[in-house]
Amino acid sequence: MTQALPLSTRVLVIGAGAMGSGIAHVAARAGHTVYLYDMSAEAVARGRAGIEKDLRFLVSKAKLSEADCAATLERVLPVTNLTDARDAGLAIEAIVERLDVKQALFKQLEEALPADAILATNTSSLSITAMAAPLARPQNVAGLHFFNPAPRMALVEIVAGLATDPAIADTLYATAKAWGKVPVHAKSTPGFIVNRVARPYYAEALRVLGEQAASPATLDALLRDGARFPMGPFELMDMIGHDVNFAVTRSVYDAYFGDKRFTPSLIQQDLVLAGRLGRKSGQGFYAYGDAAAKPQP
Ligand code: NAI
Repeated sequence: MTQALPLSTRVLVIGAGAMGSGIAHVAARAGHTVYLYDMSAEAVARGRAGIEKDLRFLVSKAKLSEADCAATLERVLPVTNLTDARDAGLAIEAIVERLDVKQALFKQLEEALPADAILATNTSSLSITAMAAPLARPQNVAGLHFFNPAPRMALVEIVAGLATDPAIADTLYATAKAWGKVPVHAKSTPGFIVNRVARPYYAEALRVLGEQAASPATLDALLRDGARFPMGPFELMDMIGHDVNFAVTRSVYDAYFGDKRFTPSLIQQDLVLAGRLGRKSGQGFYAYGDAAAKPQP
């Protein structure tokens, strides 16, 4: 049986936003030393502060001891230069959802890290095959797709592109399991499994809103309290981030050659253009104070 990566493997997480900091949290809790990298020291510090806040919350609920909280945080090492992480055996990128930017990053990683380092991407929808294609060692690339928030959501899609070495997909599967997750193998098709199946959930809600048939608050309440979804579609899009959600829909739409079922929403495009990205910018379909979401007038 394929073994998980040993705890001595150092993990490099690139992108200290919502997903990257959550993934760093998970790997550090499991016992790995984690390098956390972003475009600026401030972004790394913000991501690390987010991890600390989440860990402290667990301590307050008696789900984590003070000692484990401190030890986990100590394992998260901020880095501002990729060469400072040159001994990492696993890199997981969670940067902006753009193929060209991710490809450029992987080229840098291929130069900075050991030749046998696994290069994983947390992309929600982009082709693993395309991401790996320009690299010297495309067999080392695979999708390791966590869900938001990564510390709480169990599912992880292990996504293989055409060139992915099956042994690497198996190692990631075993590693995700060792980290307490529920991994599933998936092929690199647009949106993989969950994000493809979830597209109509967002699209239909946005169409209902476009027809002014119901407000976001009404629709969210119906689906949450009536149909027992954990979150309604609008609060979920606000949590995911409209920049990310819109980019995913566009990429699935393009990848299926403009299949109408995946047509992106102009309403969502407007939110992105206005910088109303959801929780992370303080405003999306709802306005966010420190804690509670309030419906927009
Ligand atoms: P985010 O906007 O919260 O964070 C992205 C971070 O990456 C930012 O801190 C940004 O400064 C940094 N970044 C951007 N370009 C960079 C570069 N070239 N080098 C280094 N750092 C860079 O985004 P989020 O939500 O964490 O998404 C990240 C990735 O995870 C995307 O590929 C997204 O599709 C995927 N994802 C997002 C989910 C969500 O619910 N938000 C769920 C699962 C996957």
